[in-house]
Amino acid sequence: MRTVTVGVLGSGTVGQDVLNLIERRESVFSDLGVRIEISGVLVRDVNKVRDVPLGTRVTTDLGFLQECGVVIEAMGGVDRPLEMLLPYLRSGRPVITANKALLAERWDVLRDYALAGTLYYEASVMAGTPVIGPMSTVLRASTFTRLQAVLNGTCLYILNQMEGGKNYADALAEAQALGYAETPPTLDVGGFDTAHKLAVLARFCADGNFPYSAVEVQGIEDITQKDIQDARAAGERIKLVAELERQGSGWRATVAPQRLPDNHPLCTAGASRNALVYEGEECGMLIFAGGGAGGMITASAMVGDLLDLLIGFPGHVPLH
Ligand code: NAP
Ligand code: HSE
Repeated sequence: MRTVTVGVLGSGTVGQDVLNLIERRESVFSDLGVRIEISGVLVRDVNKVRDVPLGTRVTTDLGFLQECGVVIEAMGGVDRPLEMLLPYLRSGRPVITANKALLAERWDVLRDYALAGTLYYEASVMAGTPVIGPMSTVLRASTFTRLQAVLNGTCLYILNQMEGGKNYADALAEAQALGYAETPPTLDVGGFDTAHKLAVLARFCADGNFPYSAVEVQGIEDITQKDIQDARAAGERIKLVAELERQGSGWRATVAPQRLPDNHPLCTAGASRNALVYEGEECGMLIFAGGGAGGMITASAMVGDLLDLLIGFPGHVPLH
């Protein structure tokens, strides 16, 4: 049995469930001949009550990173996690992250590590519903033409609650209480979180260097109860839709609210489910759907990445 030391950055909605799931799947690690040792969990406030396995070393001291074989980043932000991870990545060690903002906005720095296979980030788009895995493997054989997706759980929740008559502010507060929303939630309702995710996906199917700044973004803040009820009366629903398609010799990436017919695959996936329609010349139209936000579903993808890493699979390699 070999011991793998894992350091975790962040123990909030996602980090806590990562720790709990690692403990829950102990026998699966054991079958691989591995014993996981959590060398430290970085937080801001050590006095906060946390739902983590007994004896977990929660600390504000980053020193444990030096002794880690693997780092799982679940703290969020852009500059701060990058600063913490860079010295570690430079030493060739692997990172598992759910942080689409970091991936989208600092690709200039991270791309080489992704190309080297040391970055694992299935959880960054659609949480535990696998899309990056297929895009970085089997789907490469098909010529990508277009994708259309609903990628933000907070916006889905708010729009769905508004269909039931709830007001925008109450619905947003509930999405925050459920652990779906980013800090600050403007990232969600302004469309930026969806744009982060679209940039991450575009690097697998369109252009390995696709810049986040190229995504045109509009959020849901101006959607009114009347807009929603007008759409319902016409047999339609309003969703925040991410789209990527060819434009001339390049690609056009947009995020904006759209009215979609009730029978559109992004609607039939279910009121609270993320969904993605992928079109390729050879593979035809594929539909991915499932939960896209929440602690345990996100943890399931991160622990899945950890298992891939231990089995010897590389991380998620974008287009060269
Ligand atoms: P969260 O609940 O706010 O947890 C963040 C954790 O990071 C907290 O434990 C916090 O410490 C710690 N932290 C933040 N800044 C820190 C700093 N500068 N130094 C030390 N510790 C710091 O966030 P979350 O919802 O778990 O999200 C974490 C990441 O996962 C984000 O990148 C998010 O985009 C991504 N993600 C989230 C979901 C979801 O549904 N929530 C789904 C997919 C991906 P304290 O606890 O002491 O405050
Ligand atoms: N804030 C994000 C959402 C979390 O609402 O979808 C999952 O990425």
